Amino acid sequence: MLILGIESSCDDAAAAVIETTAPGIAEVRSSTVANQDDIHRAYGGIVPELASRNHVVTIAPVVERALEAAGRKLDDLDGIAVTRGPGLVGSLLVGLMFAKGLAQARGLAMVGVNHIEGHLLAPLLENRIAMPYLALVVSGGHTALFAVEDFGRYRRIGRTRDDAAGEAFDKVAKLMGLGYPGGRVIDELSRRGNRKRVKIPRAQVKGAPMDFSFSGVKTAVATILAERNGDSEPLTPEDLAASFQEAVVEMLIKPTIAAARELGADTIALTGGVAANSRLRDRLAEAAAADGRRLVAPALKYCTDNAAMIALAGSYRLLRGERDALSIDAEANLAL
Ligand code: KG4
Ligand code: ZN
Repeated sequence: MLILGIESSCDDAAAAVIETTAPGIAEVRSSTVANQDDIHRAYGGIVPELASRNHVVTIAPVVERALEAAGRKLDDLDGIAVTRGPGLVGSLLVGLMFAKGLAQARGLAMVGVNHIEGHLLAPLLENRIAMPYLALVVSGGHTALFAVEDFGRYRRIGRTRDDAAGEAFDKVAKLMGLGYPGGRVIDELSRRGNRKRVKIPRAQVKGAPMDFSFSGVKTAVATILAERNGDSEPLTPEDLAASFQEAVVEMLIKPTIAAARELGADTIALTGGVAANSRLRDRLAEAAAADGRRLVAPALKYCTDNAAMIALAGSYRLLRGERDALSIDAEANLAL
């Protein structure tokens, strides 16, 4: 089955073509993304109105590019999978309406996909993983642990009580004047920094060992920056970034290992934009191995928002012959 995936839930408009033979088994024929970082950078964060307006301009060319790169035509497609939530409603609507139009015009089956389900299944794009596996989803909007029990059967077993980890990276980068989005910049600076230069308290949620809390680290960095003037030894951005990143990484690892033990999961899958973080990948791989488990982290292009994961998440339903009505709506808070 040849499936077109469409994703526009936030600030990236993406399209992909995958070929699938069985649930979770797919070859990615193409995966294209129109990134809007340059547009939102001036505002230090995503401006929803600008995101959706730009999707309107880029969605058709992005889909065309995906088909072209795959060497396929619209007539070759067997189905469409499109993100219908959660996300920014104006952004979601652009991709969903485009998918509906295409499905209607070409008589194609269309399914609406939950964006988080896409992240959860993304590790399957390049790996065979036996279920159940544990997935740590870390992005700008989400930080949670899920048991992936089967296609369509996911159980959340841990979550952040406040900020998402990516949000903490972005907010701290903003405080440090590093621009937007901040995760990648902090990752790069940290390679040259001393991770033990400043003490950042590691927060744990009392009585909930599989939950996370990141609002405290952000405040800790703000306090350090405010008090820095009296410091005799200058604090370099590299050292502060490395110290902060180490705290976040450790605060992600502890609940993840606790959850893997609770589940008895052999495999931990790391997914979401923050999964691009080099230190997190290294440390979590080490911690998993030390605990007798395996870490599977997708290639960076499948960690951040992309349409290949959406196509994959829609594919098992399309393979079963399911299709959604063209009346389905975008849902900003769509539950998994
Ligand atoms: O999954 P994603 O592309 O979008 C959603 O939030 O759904 O994730 C974006 C987030 C941003 O917060 C960004 O700062 C963070 O991922 N990020 C990183 C890195 N690359 C991207 N955070 C830490 N280290 C990185 N290398
Ligand atoms: Zn995402």
